Amino acid sequence: MRIGIITGGGDCPGLNAVIRGAVRAAEVTYDSTVIGFRSAWRGVMDNDYELLDVDRCRGILPLGGTILGTSRDQPFAREHGIELVRRAYDRHGLDAIIGIGGEGSMGVVNALHQKGFPVIGVPKTIDNDIPLTEMTFGFQTAVQICTDAIDRLHTTAESHHRVLVVEVMGRHVGHIAIWSGLAGGAALILVPEEPFDLDEVCERIVNRHRKGRWATIVVVAEGALPKPGTFEVPEPEVDVYGHKVLGGIGHLIAREIHGRTGIESRTTVLGHIQRGGSPVAFDRILGTRFGVAAVDAAAEQAWGQMVALQQGQIVRVPVEEAVGSLKSVQPDLLRLNTMFQPRLPSDSHPGLVEP
Ligand code: F6P
Repeated sequence: MRIGIITGGGDCPGLNAVIRGAVRAAEVTYDSTVIGFRSAWRGVMDNDYELLDVDRCRGILPLGGTILGTSRDQPFAREHGIELVRRAYDRHGLDAIIGIGGEGSMGVVNALHQKGFPVIGVPKTIDNDIPLTEMTFGFQTAVQICTDAIDRLHTTAESHHRVLVVEVMGRHVGHIAIWSGLAGGAALILVPEEPFDLDEVCERIVNRHRKGRWATIVVVAEGALPKPGTFEVPEPEVDVYGHKVLGGIGHLIAREIHGRTGIESRTTVLGHIQRGGSPVAFDRILGTRFGVAAVDAAAEQAWGQMVALQQGQIVRVPVEEAVGSLKSVQPDLLRLNTMFQPRLPSDSHPGLVEP
């Protein structure tokens, strides 16, 4: 076999583990060749590539980012893009292309599959929002980075008796916010799944401080939004790919909390730190499993399938079923979020009662 491979969309830790896994499986199990196209579909269309073998992949397992580079360029957005992809298949004698990417990239994989191209999908998103897979690599690394940051912010928040708002990634869903907020013991976690009421947030904070707590950590997903009509958030800018450039809600919230409660408030935006650096062990293993499974799928000509993690096992699902919707935070985690937030003065628990 001759297999092309691309990494598309935002990078995340574990991409190199997928590439390495795919190359190892191709070379050792199938005596096959892997052609790595640079900067995602741009490299396929512009014939920018390198041959990948086991030697080239030495040392890349703990490396963040992607040795192939990435972009959001894609054939359906470029004139004659599909023709250029077809030419790449012919020129390199490709049996398949493995597309590693998020929501947008899986859409491209699906659309190419519908047009008859032999393609396999590997789900990738730091936000962990692709449906039909319980987890994507990179997510656990981001959660650990955010949890470490929250742990550090606790001590400075307490020293200054402040509210510290921590803004984390999560465009449409709050997986990173919920996981890191719960792990870091944040008092409040605001996620896109549940629009928030800032008055209520402030009431809970004031009540918590009245009861002698010195500080409050609020974790907010960048895509979290207030309940309609309660607080104005300006429309974000849009980049050249039509992607909303999020980031900034944390500053707005901290300013409002400060103004409404009188408690000094600051913001930390973790931004791309969440996507940088070395993957944690879980992400290295998941990436490796996905890479190997993608090559197995190509060997079995399981075109249009996406590899996925379900109940701890690597499975295949039709990529068309994984596009068009997003995976939200599980209800039991949302319940924990409600349970651990500061009480309102009207909440009824009497407190400890001597026997
Ligand atoms: O979709 C993944 C993601 O990391 C989002 O959480 C974030 O909003 C976005 O990408 C950032 O994109 P960029 O790297 O283009 O600024």
